[in-house]
Amino acid sequence: MKYVFLTGTNRGLGQAVSQALTDSQIISITRSPVEETGNIYKSFQVSFTDTEELEDKLSDIYTSINPEEGDEIYLLNIAGSVNPVKSLANLGGQEMLDNYKINTLAPTLLIKGFVKHFQDFQGEKRIVTVSSGAAVNGIEGWGAYCSSKAAIDMVHDVLSKENKHQANNVKSAIFYPGVIDTGMQETIRSSDIEEFPNLDRFKEYKENDVLRDAKEVANALIKVVTLDDFGSDESYNVKDYI
Ligand SMILES: NC(=O)c1ccc[n+]([C@@H]2O[C@H](COP(=O)([O-])OP(=O)(O)OC[C@H]3O[C@@H](n4cnc5c(N)ncnc54)[C@H](OP(=O)(O)O)[C@@H]3O)[C@@H](O)[C@H]2O)c1
Repeated sequence: MKYVFLTGTNRGLGQAVSQALTDSQIISITRSPVEETGNIYKSFQVSFTDTEELEDKLSDIYTSINPEEGDEIYLLNIAGSVNPVKSLANLGGQEMLDNYKINTLAPTLLIKGFVKHFQDFQGEKRIVTVSSGAAVNGIEGWGAYCSSKAAIDMVHDVLSKENKHQANNVKSAIFYPGVIDTGMQETIRSSDIEEFPNLDRFKEYKENDVLRDAKEVANALIKVVTLDDFGSDESYNVKDYI
């Protein structure tokens, strides 16, 4: 059996991944409710801005399965937020912290729980976190998003080093998904041009059909996480798997 701990299951890329993983049992971790039907084996509800509650729930989340020899366990960190879209001069401390909690702290806590809880499980254990080109290229108005994604990239850098030198037996990588036609792009297109000077470029992505369908990106992500030599690269880009 393949068990997949998945965030963002209720919409966007996370939902498309969940729908495409028909051969897996999904353990869903979301803010919005998700029904335990079909391949959703268990669902946990918590807002990632409440890091204390998430940390308290880690034990329940990871004891919700009892993997046996031959089973595989994946953690796919997909949930994310681009908000607040504001120039640095207007960025509030709390909203920046909330963005960091969603994009950096929550996936890090989920990684920590996964690595620790399944330390003695000898089967296949894989972690993918969805990052963004914004982690490596600063974009005006995205001070919180760019820096929180850069931070999770660095957490993964550390993780892949720890995988090599500690007894984790975990394989992990970052996935760069390109631009996807999801709610996040709607949020971006509804930004204030004063705060986000690239607004017209992102509107053109939609008008010119540049945004990829979430199902296409989900299939690429699944191709990546199931590669025979998964983890031999520290990051994978959607364009190489379409
Ligand atoms: N769309 C793009 O063009 C694009 C480009 C590069 C990278 N990405 C990355 O791809 C991933 C998926 O994005 P998407 O396009 O699918 O975005 P989306 O459609 O906006 O979905 C975002 C998901 O994150 C969840 N989320 C947001 N705030 C949360 C919170 N406080 N606690 C728990 N969950 C929360 C949402 O849950 P709710 O429904 O409860 O809000 C939703 O399930 C993200 O990591 C994003 O940064 C997207």
